[in-house]
Amino acid sequence: MSVKNEVLRQLEHNKGRYISGGQLAGDLGVSRNSIWKAIKSLEKSGYQISAVPNRGYCLAEESDILSPFSIYQHLKNKLDIHVYPIVSSTNTVLKEMAEQGAAEGTVVIAEEQNAGKGRMGKSFYSPSKSGIYMSILLRPTISAEESLFLTTSAAVATAKAIEDVSDKIAQIKWVNDVYIDNKKVCGILTEGVFNIETNHLDYAIVGIGINVCFPEDSFPKEIENIATAIFENPTDAANKRSILIARLLDYFMEYYKDFHSKKYVKEYINRSMILGKEINIVDKDKIIPATAVEIDKKCRLKVKLKDGSYKWLSSGEVSIRIN
Ligand code: BTN
Repeated sequence: MSVKNEVLRQLEHNKGRYISGGQLAGDLGVSRNSIWKAIKSLEKSGYQISAVPNRGYCLAEESDILSPFSIYQHLKNKLDIHVYPIVSSTNTVLKEMAEQGAAEGTVVIAEEQNAGKGRMGKSFYSPSKSGIYMSILLRPTISAEESLFLTTSAAVATAKAIEDVSDKIAQIKWVNDVYIDNKKVCGILTEGVFNIETNHLDYAIVGIGINVCFPEDSFPKEIENIATAIFENPTDAANKRSILIARLLDYFMEYYKDFHSKKYVKEYINRSMILGKEINIVDKDKIIPATAVEIDKKCRLKVKLKDGSYKWLSSGEVSIRIN
């Protein structure tokens, strides 16, 4: 690891506390001058570090630049996290890594995406600094149908993590959106490569996009009435993104390790915001009004149509609009 990264790791570990240049130099086995250079380089990258003679260096408590080290210190699971300032799409970057043989548990996170992907070929607005754009690589021995559970368990993990770091109540809109106050705060896109010979997935990538605070230029017109963020005030979000990511990953990995028990499904159903509500089923060009009646153990949605008949919906076929 480079001296700069080693210094960052130590500063993140001691966030809000001073650590002397001498101690850093001794721990890393380098000169004080190398430490000073690393500090200058970190400052150039935007880190707020105070330097006080006889005390040393201290990373500001409110520092909110994402790095593997800012996340590892809150994370229980051992995951291989990669953080980038900007990528096209974290799903796309991780897919390339998966094709090169990256291991299960590799995670790609970006501060910004310039070609963020949403479901059904849509784009996902991913401005700098205000969100979390993250993809997790999994290599489960499950069928393509079962991959729906990766998405639904990620929705529960996200909702729980949001509630851990804020005073908001997070609900789930079938099948893959997390909502706060009736507006979308998170979308999930799971992509997989299916192996015909084994009838299993070769790998799956669970991509999660969360609006942590409102973007500086506000949301684009097309989504301004349907999108929201966890925090209205950016200062409330300070230092929260790393904790949120760590909590989300730990909840998700807990469900994933016990994948076949599907123990999170009950919580998925309890957090549903559409049950009993009038909805619109959007099926290609058709919009079909219905009432959301039930979500079963397979996370399928039962709806009552206007003619009184019932229908079970699986994800992928349709999307739902709330009236
Ligand atoms: C949706 O709401 O339609 C799904 C949005 C999924 C967005 C996330 S952000 C991280 C990952 N990378 C992407 O390009 N998309 C997913």
